Amino acid sequence: MPIKKDPDIKPSEITPKEVYCNRRQFMAASVSAAAATAFPTLLDAEQHGGTPLKIEKRTGYAGNEEQTSYKSAAGYNNFYEFSTNKEDVAELSKGFRTRPWTVSIEGLVKKVRVYDIDELIKMFPLEERIYRLRCVEGWSMVIPWVGFPLEGIIRMSEPDAKAKFVEFTTIHDQSQMPGQRREVLQWPYVEGLRLDEAVHPLTILSVGMYGEVLPNQNGAPLRLVVPWKYGFKSIKSIVKIRFTEQMPVSSWMKAGPLEYGFYANVNPEVDHPRWSQATERRIGEFFRRKTLMFNGYSGQVASLYAGMDLRKNF
Ligand code: MTE
Repeated sequence: MPIKKDPDIKPSEITPKEVYCNRRQFMAASVSAAAATAFPTLLDAEQHGGTPLKIEKRTGYAGNEEQTSYKSAAGYNNFYEFSTNKEDVAELSKGFRTRPWTVSIEGLVKKVRVYDIDELIKMFPLEERIYRLRCVEGWSMVIPWVGFPLEGIIRMSEPDAKAKFVEFTTIHDQSQMPGQRREVLQWPYVEGLRLDEAVHPLTILSVGMYGEVLPNQNGAPLRLVVPWKYGFKSIKSIVKIRFTEQMPVSSWMKAGPLEYGFYANVNPEVDHPRWSQATERRIGEFFRRKTLMFNGYSGQVASLYAGMDLRKNF
């Protein structure tokens, strides 16, 4: 599917690879205070202590909105397998083992296979995508994710004509994930997308953020990022991708069918039964801002839902 131009993206935000590579060389040569002012994001990426990733292309998809600080993105996390307390997840997930790691592709596809994570990552050039992420709870962030379009894995797996949905599953390992010892959700965590949503060019599998390998608390080693849907669709630490004919039932649908729908598209006009979804608080800002339809990505994704009643299909 060809990607529609985001009216928010200024040509200046799309950095050609050569320029980016030269910048990186320059950064390596002279990390100075002057450079810090000139290239704050790049220097920022060098400073988090994680493993840097080789990025082939960088694109902004959040207009000129300011990026959330790394500290907030890596320190305020929803990852119920570790804790329901957002501030505790980073510490509790410190020792989580992300290698060896395999991802199983199964269900209605010709190429059923188990991939080693490093083998899988090497198959696709890495891109940086600066996306808004809005949580159903009413807070949001702007994060430079690093990953590749999910579409690549889907095409390579050759889905059958019958496949209509894709189901994703997180690792189930109580010995490493203390939150799984409590039944706050039905484990393992499951999410799903319709096949056309899954192959949409904005849908990515992320392996990093802020130029570095994904921290455990953000869903290492592989997580989904679907920028026009509430954050809970962006499932973390994926071990299984299954193609199905029937709509998958996600962990959140099981937990509260009247509160969490399959689509979970960001929609300021459809309230959560217990609170309004009209506004959100960007982490790092004081005042609330208006929530945008499809999180600001209407131009690219509204056509996927043409003719659907989004109050019923929430
Ligand atoms: N994936 C798993 N496996 N478990 C979770 O609890 N929480 C979801 C989503 N993915 C969650 C998950 C929710 S509610 C949100 S808002 C985002 O992850 C948060 O992602 P972040 O911590 O990288 O900001």
